[in-house]
Amino acid sequence: MPAWTPGSPEFSARWALDPTIDYLNHGSFGATPRTVLARQSELRAQMEAEPVEFLARRLPERLDAVRERVAAFVGADPEGLVFVPNATHGVDAALGAMDWSPGDEVVHADHGYNAVKKALLRLRHRYEVTTVAAVVPFPIDDAQQVIDAFARAIGPRTRLVVIDHITSATALIFPVTELVALCRTRGVTVLVDGAHAPGLLPLDIRAIGADFYTGNLHKWVCAPKGAALFWVAPAWRDRTHARVVSHGYELGLRAEFEWAGTFDPTAWLSVPAALDHLDELGASALQGHNHALVQQGRQHLARALGVRLPHPDHPSWYGPMAAVLVPWANAADAPGLTARLFQEHRIEVPFTAYDHRCFVRISGQAYNRPAQYERLAELLQRWR
Ligand SMILES: Cc1ncc(COP(=O)(O)O)c(C=O)c1O
Repeated sequence: MPAWTPGSPEFSARWALDPTIDYLNHGSFGATPRTVLARQSELRAQMEAEPVEFLARRLPERLDAVRERVAAFVGADPEGLVFVPNATHGVDAALGAMDWSPGDEVVHADHGYNAVKKALLRLRHRYEVTTVAAVVPFPIDDAQQVIDAFARAIGPRTRLVVIDHITSATALIFPVTELVALCRTRGVTVLVDGAHAPGLLPLDIRAIGADFYTGNLHKWVCAPKGAALFWVAPAWRDRTHARVVSHGYELGLRAEFEWAGTFDPTAWLSVPAALDHLDELGASALQGHNHALVQQGRQHLARALGVRLPHPDHPSWYGPMAAVLVPWANAADAPGLTARLFQEHRIEVPFTAYDHRCFVRISGQAYNRPAQYERLAELLQRWR
């Protein structure tokens, strides 16, 4: 048991969330503890007190210190790690590092995130690249089904495989190390989209062995919005450039990515405060607690909705997020259901669309309480 009392009003007040809302959607944008926001305000005050000292003279060395800490937390070498505003930027930078020719193929999971699919669509339009979906069944009960789906999709023209570490609509943890190993045997480049991974699970980016890895720090590390990482394997470091060109062009990854013109770097500089908060709660105790919340929550929902659970009940399959089928709705209903629950009942939870079906995706964070999932389940049972 953790030494803190999760879900109590006093404990939940660590986060700036509105206590009158049942906020079951940590997964979309995270939520930032007040201590971290206070640190960000302090940094902003320093920046405004002397912008030149803050931005022109001291920023690189301060970011290097943050980089050391983040690199240790995610198992990456600091030389290959840069800060970006979000995982979308990381994905875009990786796609931009490759030279494309007409007929090249990119494999991605059909569970992939819509914005990433759009980035691939742009490659199609610009370079006549073909995209191929690895169709991963859902419900699913064997990790080998994920590997087989990618193995079938990779072909002789495949240049890049994009692997979600944790899928968005279905909240599945993919067996990412095995998938990267598969790509290695087929000789293709790999980008891991770990948008949800930092802080959600123990992360060892070097051990995963991809060419590119990107992940958000504003979701499960609870850093301010706009904090994310992009890691580049040694073989790619000289060939990877920021899309926005500024003073740092050709001066290395840090110089290129961490100054794309004047901006507010305080989200990046506040990451140590978020890691301090995580350390205070204990990352592993928190991950276990959040998983248990969602484990119970998804059971309530599956019972209320009269559906089977879509994947085995083991932490290798899911962490603090889970998706449950809503049998009486279809994919097109998802946005309306999300809006209705919020407007009528002040419950913030996303309904997601995958393969023409509609799912409700719950998140669990230490500010949540089991009663919030029970309330959601009762409502959805009535809505049947
Ligand atoms: C799998 C996946 N990839 C990429 C993203 C994009 O993250 P961001 O909007 O922070 O760039 C998300 C967002 O939730 C996601 O779930």
